Amino acid sequence: MQNKNLLVVGGSSEIGTAIVRQAENNNYQVISTKRSADASGLFMDVTSDESVRTAVQQVTADFGTIDAVIYAPALSNDGLIHTLDEDAWRTAFDVNMFGAARVARHLLPHFIKARKGIFQFISSTAAVRGATGAAPYSCSKAALNALALNIAHDYGRFNIRAYTVMPGYVDGGMLAHLPKEKKTLLARESSLKRLATPADIAHFCIATLDSPYLTGTALTLDGGLAS
Ligand SMILES: NC(=O)c1ccc[n+]([C@@H]2O[C@H](COP(=O)([O-])OP(=O)(O)OC[C@H]3O[C@@H](n4cnc5c(N)ncnc54)[C@H](OP(=O)(O)O)[C@@H]3O)[C@@H](O)[C@H]2O)c1
Repeated sequence: MQNKNLLVVGGSSEIGTAIVRQAENNNYQVISTKRSADASGLFMDVTSDESVRTAVQQVTADFGTIDAVIYAPALSNDGLIHTLDEDAWRTAFDVNMFGAARVARHLLPHFIKARKGIFQFISSTAAVRGATGAAPYSCSKAALNALALNIAHDYGRFNIRAYTVMPGYVDGGMLAHLPKEKKTLLARESSLKRLATPADIAHFCIATLDSPYLTGTALTLDGGLAS
């Protein structure tokens, strides 16, 4: 897909930034959203339906057709389940899953009108492997996979596709804070014996946009994690 309009929600995340760079290198016109209200990029707080609606309205007014959206925002509220209150679950689902549903809700009418469109949600292998001490994150990513599947089923007849990409362990972003020794242990779990770089993930995210029969699935990109 070249010279097409790509909306990257959460383009300020570390993986999102790599996705924006990879997309621009592949001749996409990229519109990137972020939560911080500075001069660059477009403001979008995915926990606010009004914010999502306004941003989508602005993007479609400025760029006409949006060909694809990549959804990257996420947060993890860590702790064992018996220590987590309801708010820990709500806030994780609000960003990781409901935010994606809000973006879908406001973009779908445009995609239906255009008779095309791609939703790519960044999920995680935590959705299918679990994640120690991160149940709200893991469960919300599993729900995100189901959201993609349902969009694919309901809107495939309009040539709208939806799928998730599930990275394993990435050196950066949400795992940037981990000590070196922990990263070394995680790297050993993969066949390639290294963590992914944000650029590894971005390469895959942009490459898969070009696959016309790809929909309703969750794609693992984990360097061969041992099960
Ligand atoms: N790093 C990994 O090992 C790894 C592994 C598997 C999957 N992933 C997935 O990859 C994606 C990107 O993660 P990353 O590692 O690059 O994380 P990151 O750099 O920590 O970025 C997380 C992003 O989420 C955004 N966000 C949080 N709440 C938001 C809200 N209410 N509205 C809009 N944006 C909000 C943050 O925006 P602010 O900057 O404004 O706070 C930030 O840009 C996530 O979906 C994550 O689950 C990461």
